[in-house]
Amino acid sequence: MTQTTRIADAFPALNQTVGDKPLVYLDSAATTQKPTCVIDAVHSYYEHDNANIHRGVHQLSMRATKGYEGARAKLAALLGASKDEIVFVRGATEAINLVAQAWGRPRLGAGDEILITEMEHHSNIVPWQLLCEQTGAALKVAKVNDDGSLNVDSFKELLGEDTAIAAFTHVSNAIGSINQVKELCTLAKAAGAVTVVDGAQATGHMHVDVQDIGCDFYATSGHKMFGPTGIGCLFGRSELLEEMEPYQGGGDMILSVSFEETTWNKVPFKFEAGTPNIAGAIGLSAACDYITEIGYDTIHDIEMELLSYGTKVLSEIDGATLVGTAKQKCAILAFTVDGVHPHDVGTICDHEGVAIRTGNHCAEPLMHRFGLSATCRASLSVYNTASDIDALATALRKAITMLA
Ligand code: ALA
Repeated sequence: MTQTTRIADAFPALNQTVGDKPLVYLDSAATTQKPTCVIDAVHSYYEHDNANIHRGVHQLSMRATKGYEGARAKLAALLGASKDEIVFVRGATEAINLVAQAWGRPRLGAGDEILITEMEHHSNIVPWQLLCEQTGAALKVAKVNDDGSLNVDSFKELLGEDTAIAAFTHVSNAIGSINQVKELCTLAKAAGAVTVVDGAQATGHMHVDVQDIGCDFYATSGHKMFGPTGIGCLFGRSELLEEMEPYQGGGDMILSVSFEETTWNKVPFKFEAGTPNIAGAIGLSAACDYITEIGYDTIHDIEMELLSYGTKVLSEIDGATLVGTAKQKCAILAFTVDGVHPHDVGTICDHEGVAIRTGNHCAEPLMHRFGLSATCRASLSVYNTASDIDALATALRKAITMLA
């Protein structure tokens, strides 16, 4: 039994057939599958400890609070942050919206600029467009090179004393390019901008140290790192979180409430209004343990081997063209097939048991950059194997024979 076979065995959903074909799951950039330890942690919480947090003096509430706050500590350790710099949110989308509204909205105005890049997911474009509409600030967009890497010269040219916020992804969800976020943060900081890194596609694949990167904010999604959906975290530098107004009002985010004056709870609770996703946080805590147990080095080695094999296999298929071939890449293979619409390729792959994503991948401007409306995308994780890539190649050849 190979090591990767054993890894896949920990993920029950991978062990099934779709139609009469064994499932080959190549859509981990959309969401990763969940290991048994995460499923068990969520199940166990609901079975034994279900209660609200921070409120009760009874045993169940104390156990739930311990699980929830323990998850915060796990995430802090994983990201190199301190506990009070970790705000629980629904995912990276909510994290970015939180920064836009709670940091950006009271501070930005006409004359200010927000710098993003052409490779952003819609969740790192639209919150800034909304902020621009609300404040009169202007959106600037750094270019992407033909191979899908960021054009750092374009980023540098657009940075200036008017740049209030620089927001960029760590890893492109659509084509896998890895940005040199430490360098981008250094450049942005030198220009006086606050930096926001979208880490949704990074934390399931690579070691992230927010201190080393030097970012002000870092957004993650739990479900892309083996955890449940509906939970993620925003890392924010303490002094920025301290000076920010709340994002939403409600229970738990206040110190005291009266009709004359309401005061805020301390950071990070100031940003966590209402009953949070307690079970999700506990599941995410188990996902952090799972990652730590396997180790980012192992995850990286397996995924890089798969990326190199997948790139070779797809390059050898007549009619298939890879989109995004940056030197620094995560294991995401985006491609088009001559004469066949990506949705048709996806449907034929599905008939062969191979799950890929097709469409614009919530990155419409990046598709336009390459003169495309859609691509096919196979996104890999630590539980995939070379035979999964072989199954994709077989399905693709079938699609080409039938439809091209
Ligand atoms: N952002 C997710 C993806 O890339 C949904 O598929």
